[in-house]
Amino acid sequence: MALETLTRACVRSVTPYFPGKPIAEVQRELGLKKVIKLASNENPLGPSPRALAALKRDALETHLYPEGASPLLRQALAKALGMSDSHVIVGNGSDEIIRLLCEAFLSPEDDVIASQYGFIRFKQQATLMGARVIEVPMADWRHDLETMGRTVSPRTKMVFVASPNNPTGTYNSEEEIEGLLKALPATTLLVLDEAYYQYAGDQDDYHRSVPDLVRRFPNLVVLRTFSKAYGLAGLRVGYGVGDAELIGWLDRIRMPFNVGLLSQRAAIEALKDQAWMKKGIRLNAKNREYLASQLRGLGFGVTDSAANFLFVKCAFPGRVLFKRLLKTGVIIRSLDEYGLTHHVRISVGTEAEIRMLLAGLKTSLNGTLTP
Ligand SMILES: Cc1ncc(COP(=O)(O)O)c(C=O)c1O
Repeated sequence: MALETLTRACVRSVTPYFPGKPIAEVQRELGLKKVIKLASNENPLGPSPRALAALKRDALETHLYPEGASPLLRQALAKALGMSDSHVIVGNGSDEIIRLLCEAFLSPEDDVIASQYGFIRFKQQATLMGARVIEVPMADWRHDLETMGRTVSPRTKMVFVASPNNPTGTYNSEEEIEGLLKALPATTLLVLDEAYYQYAGDQDDYHRSVPDLVRRFPNLVVLRTFSKAYGLAGLRVGYGVGDAELIGWLDRIRMPFNVGLLSQRAAIEALKDQAWMKKGIRLNAKNREYLASQLRGLGFGVTDSAANFLFVKCAFPGRVLFKRLLKTGVIIRSLDEYGLTHHVRISVGTEAEIRMLLAGLKTSLNGTLTP
């Protein structure tokens, strides 16, 4: 019997997510010793020493289940935001919160509005629930929030915006976000994914106050993560901030022990070490500028980025660049799954990683870089 026929139709229509290629896999496949990964926007500085100390300290407790609702982490996050913990839910990465939102709110009769090149997980998750996804074209690689707002109909249950957005690295201003919120009926949720918000902090018009927005707009949920600026991607911790009733619905359907014991403890310590996090942000800002100028100098088109990666246009298929660089031990991300065949995404990395990337580009693409 074909198992396929037993699956729900929407399961068959989901295109799987392709994560960045892992270092160990490339080492095995190509027999390379030194491999660097600039494909998943991780923090090249690694976790805060305080988080690492917590992992070592608490490793002996791993035979115990964690506290299910991550109460101490929730409290720490709520305190940092100046809100009550009923406004916060912690997830197995912010990816889990995206899933919970879709499971809690979407049915086959609902529409979801997303941006054409918005983070792909929104569409995948909404499709899995059978909802119809309406994609609005971008303007200059940015979410066109005005058009997204105008596209809303009585069927629209959710609008997804990532700011800064992956893979384009662009962001929307506070004014634009507020404009969209004002245009939405109370029955349409805005999911504002801020996985990279710390990296956008130097943009004057990037919004500052999540608590204020959440208080004014009960249909807003903001998503954040410990995977990027806090360097804890491997521990899988993210969170959502929103109206207490909305958070309550998500909490009701999350898995009983969704975030591991060590993950909760390390995230609490990482949050305390703001100095470490800010060091990573400064390093990223410096290296991002350097990498962008070097890539532009080589003839690539580089979109201004407010995140820890660059969205890069090539004169030939991104897949070709990905494969050639792989042979030099550098993993980047091609963007075919977005239909962006002539773009790649490159995480910023350390200076040494940038040097290796540039050397790889020069040797493997000799003479073919003309846009
Ligand atoms: C825009 C955006 N949102 C959410 C995520 C998911 O992050 P995590 O599940 O690690 O918190 C990512 C990861 O790359 C992302 O780029």
